[in-house]
Amino acid sequence: MGEIRTLISAEEIDAKLAEVGSAITRDYQGKDLLVVGVLKGAFMVMADLARHIDLPVEFDFMAVSSYGASTQTSGVVRILKDLDQEIADRHVLIVEDIIDSGLTLNYLMKSLRVRKPASIEIAALLVKRGIQRVPIEVKYPCFDIGPEFVIGYGLDYAGRYRNLPYVGVMEGSPD
Ligand code: IMP
Ligand code: MG
Repeated sequence: MGEIRTLISAEEIDAKLAEVGSAITRDYQGKDLLVVGVLKGAFMVMADLARHIDLPVEFDFMAVSSYGASTQTSGVVRILKDLDQEIADRHVLIVEDIIDSGLTLNYLMKSLRVRKPASIEIAALLVKRGIQRVPIEVKYPCFDIGPEFVIGYGLDYAGRYRNLPYVGVMEGSPD
């Protein structure tokens, strides 16, 4: 198995989430906010970001699948679990682990906009710089990274490594 190099430490992540959480707290003051985590990858950032949001928010989750076990995007997005909540006239904030091609979020945004939320914005832990195949506006980006495949802090390689408390890059062959 290859070595894992730390790209973003647990401390850096927490400091950034504190900043983003304060911005969200300020921006959604007095509004009815529903924070939506995109499973499975966003489970960790959702839990940690939530602790930095000082508002009476509600949480919900969606599960989508755009990848098989490979590291290449297929462009095919399936909704595996839909929201439990209605979002009409509510302010929705989608929390994603990573925006790569942008195809997953593009599809999600389209299918959620049809339900007429009062607003819909995106918070993403990681944004791969300049490789989006569709334009995506991320209101709360945490870290810009290069095109490399990353793991940890919710992100997997073939289902593993999600529990690493930091974001890392696999050096050499993953197998
Ligand atoms: P997109 O549709 O290409 O933007 O990809 C979105 C999804 O692909 C993310 O939510 C991740 O689940 C997965 N993904 C994209 N890049 C990476 C990566 O570098 N490591 C792990 N998962 C990734
Ligand atoms: Mg994902």
